[in-house]
Amino acid sequence: MSPFLLTRTLPEDATGAALRADVRRGLTSAPKTLPPKWFYDAHGSDLFEQITALPEYYPTRAEREILVDRSAEIAAVTGARTLVELGSGSSEKTRHLIAALTDLDTYVPVDVSESALSQAGHALIAERPGLRVHALIADFTAALALPETPGPRLVAFLGGTIGNLPPVERAAFLASIRALLSPGDALLLGADLVKEEGVLVRAYDDAAGVTAAFNKNVLTVVNRELGADFEADAFDHVALWDAEHEWIEMRLRSRVGQTVKVPALGLAVDFAAGEELRTEISAKFRKEGVRAELASAGLELSHWWTDAEGRFALSLSTCR
Ligand code: SAH
Ligand code: AVI
Repeated sequence: MSPFLLTRTLPEDATGAALRADVRRGLTSAPKTLPPKWFYDAHGSDLFEQITALPEYYPTRAEREILVDRSAEIAAVTGARTLVELGSGSSEKTRHLIAALTDLDTYVPVDVSESALSQAGHALIAERPGLRVHALIADFTAALALPETPGPRLVAFLGGTIGNLPPVERAAFLASIRALLSPGDALLLGADLVKEEGVLVRAYDDAAGVTAAFNKNVLTVVNRELGADFEADAFDHVALWDAEHEWIEMRLRSRVGQTVKVPALGLAVDFAAGEELRTEISAKFRKEGVRAELASAGLELSHWWTDAEGRFALSLSTCR
């Protein structure tokens, strides 16, 4: 078998059907919303990589610091032979973990972005000869069929992407992860932590405007895939801190009253001047909240590591 296998777990048109359903639901609801997974076409994945290098966007650097410091300990505790990574993107930080997991047989990156999976997969097998990489193009919120690989299995969900799921979906998602684990397996979860509002807002509204371009990219995706006529310049990027829910919200605010057509759905969508379309939440966490959410899914938090500045946490948990 070739050491790199890329498998599409969704039927050919499932992505298109899901996009149509999400856009119809989101643009006809009040307030209007679009789910963040549609940011990540090849251009959106590239913009996200640029975000990770921005001076204001600390989560990637903070999580990398933890992985550099703790990967050997994670390897010793888990002894993982299979590493499954959900929303793996470029797998850039994961390299530290892979290097430390000396018994690793197979890496299973799972992502909706085919371009990210293909680039990362080829780079990894060149770096670690003998490693099998079985990449899955899949939606991690849907039922995942993982390949048969040797245990113990470590499931990693890094970057704080857990915070992009609304609380109800988060609970269902964690329960579905728990169902993938057998005794001896573990979950490595990255979570961005609650901190001063200014630091958070700047991380999602950078001076160079890369996050604004990332946010507006969802409109480009809907234009290309569904023939819509969104004008990116007719919307402003908005990032605000919701102190009650402890999450950052990204929105696109219509500068003017306008009607946007989405021919593939036979829709004409009216925006009032100033009306906002919510494109992402990015929840921030506290240790006890993470512990409780894991426990509700039947997972027991066993390790909690933060970077030196206490901005970001990695937790390791096992099946109860
Ligand atoms: N883990 C990487 C990338 C985070 S960006 C890091 O920490 O830097 C979020 C990644 O999750 C993107 O690569 C995006 O394509 C993927 N993603 C978002 N929603 C997804 C979904 N529902 N199913 C699978 N992948 C998803
Ligand atoms: C992928 N995810 C964890 C990022 C975040 O910080 O919520 C996505 C992002 N949105 C804007 N900037 C980065």
